[in-house]
Amino acid sequence: MKKLIAGNWKMNGSIASNAVLVQSLLEGTAASQCLVTVCVPAPYLAQVQALVAGSGIDLGAQDVSQHESGAYTGEVSCAMLRDFGVRYAIVGHSERRQYHGETDAVVAEKAQRALAAGITPIVCVGETLAEREAGRTEEVVKRQLAAVIHTNGHCISEIVVAYEPVWAIGTGKTASPEQAQQVHAVLRAQLRAASAQADRVHILYGGSMNAANAAQLLSQPDIDGGLVGGAALKAVDFLTIIAAAQ
Ligand code: PGA
Repeated sequence: MKKLIAGNWKMNGSIASNAVLVQSLLEGTAASQCLVTVCVPAPYLAQVQALVAGSGIDLGAQDVSQHESGAYTGEVSCAMLRDFGVRYAIVGHSERRQYHGETDAVVAEKAQRALAAGITPIVCVGETLAEREAGRTEEVVKRQLAAVIHTNGHCISEIVVAYEPVWAIGTGKTASPEQAQQVHAVLRAQLRAASAQADRVHILYGGSMNAANAAQLLSQPDIDGGLVGGAALKAVDFLTIIAAAQ
């Protein structure tokens, strides 16, 4: 399958800097053989939609409401994302779980809502450093994914999974290719037990993926792409990761 490289801009960017970044990405991905998406802050969806129109770069969001519409101040619905041609939405990022109290159940509902709207949820799972040190990595990621499988049933083959060890996010500490592959294999087995189509699910690695370590991570058998934070804000670095994925 083609690898998927997703940039997660987080709360970064401006109209001026987005235009420069996306222009460089358009030039650098014109002949790209892999799937590329940028998950941008909601206020910039219209801008980036226009910039990437007709290109191979897909538009993504960083979160979506689990509710359909109504009195949910500050929230953004799937239908609104669809209005801007959004193809992917990150759900359950560890920063949402940690700072916004998102539970496994809420993350599963968000994934369900996205799937129903024709948006591919990028479901993030990952253990904290304390959980890893306590030998609980497998248990934690399986619990997080199980909630999404339970709620979404046979549609599970339509999601993207991102394994993002919390201790590796924005810290410069990357999981080794072997550490990442070990967890990816666990997630793949869990998906296979839930769906005959599990092998078409992209399982991305995220957490300090950069231009220097991407090729090795992406060469692992169950690493089907990357969810890239910091390095997605620098065109040269993001393009190097995309090149490593081909
Ligand atoms: P990072 O972030 O690449 O800056 O570690 C990845 C993510 O949180 O999606």
